[in-house]
Amino acid sequence: MCVEENGVNSLDDPGRAEPAPAREELDAALALARAILPRDPVTRGHSLRVMDYALALARRVKLPRIVFPHLVFGSLLHDCGKGGVSDHILQKPGPLTPSQMRLMGLHSERGHTITRCVGPLETASLFIRQHHERWDGHGYPDGLREEEIHVCSRIITLVDVFDALTSHRPYRKRMPVQAAMGVMRSGRGSRFDPELTDTFLAMIREKMVNVRQGRATFFRPWFTPALVAAEASSSLRHALARSLGPCPVQLTVVASGEEVFNQVETGPVEMILVGEALSDMTGAECLWLSRELAPRSVRLMLCPFNRLEVLVAHREQAGIYRFVVVPWQERAFRELVEEALVWRQIYGAVKGE
Ligand SMILES: [Fe+2]
Repeated sequence: MCVEENGVNSLDDPGRAEPAPAREELDAALALARAILPRDPVTRGHSLRVMDYALALARRVKLPRIVFPHLVFGSLLHDCGKGGVSDHILQKPGPLTPSQMRLMGLHSERGHTITRCVGPLETASLFIRQHHERWDGHGYPDGLREEEIHVCSRIITLVDVFDALTSHRPYRKRMPVQAAMGVMRSGRGSRFDPELTDTFLAMIREKMVNVRQGRATFFRPWFTPALVAAEASSSLRHALARSLGPCPVQLTVVASGEEVFNQVETGPVEMILVGEALSDMTGAECLWLSRELAPRSVRLMLCPFNRLEVLVAHREQAGIYRFVVVPWQERAFRELVEEALVWRQIYGAVKGE
């Protein structure tokens, strides 16, 4: 496959780049991403980290902003075609036989097929197809080499391998970061783009210094979003803290709208979640006012089932992204928060943060 034919390389040149997807298109793409993102927590966590690493590396090598939303979707969904490969092969501890390799190789093509017909995912679908190509031309499915492979695909290849090595898998333990860096270095110029490898390893070294000094962790290393949850009822506040505790966020739980505004004024807050009633104002008022102070935050609202009709009227004015129906199911709640974080990442990427 020639990537020029598909117009993907035009993204390398901001002057010729296609426009970023419109909000409606991103909504549609995100809805599909949610449906096809693997459901098991291991693969899901891997996909989210690959997205974080890929965006960090893309920023570092100063890729044009216009590719970022495509890179977000490409990295998030890079393995969406694995649904068609049996667990027996996916989790095999040793090397694959040639026929198993052929079956495994189908997952990038299959991912491409699933995503290519969805307008806003069309560009990302090529990154998905190419994420197992190799710099030396010995990858799959098309045996592309060097710059025949799109730079976004080369980024996804690198960060995918690094995260796979440094994460636990059911069939093997996580590799220490230093050892994984050695593996990456040994693939420089054969499996991986040499310049991107150098930049990525430099980035990881810097991150390790921060990890050692306690300023970062390796899980979601470049983006630990702040979530402020506000609710007047103390029992609901406890329930929120319990349900949101395992989410990869910096969580603050408060009782009043005033405290929400204080949080927003003292640092960036990526997500605000409010109950219907706070100690000093309604949740809808709080979201409406916080819209001015933190226009890029994602706003969520708790909503007792029988109040949905009333509260939905505030949706437009308060800029509510989603309602969380009370009582919530913990896993679904966390998935919703995760989805809102992806949403925030996409908008951050589009806005050039
Ligand atoms: Fe893959």
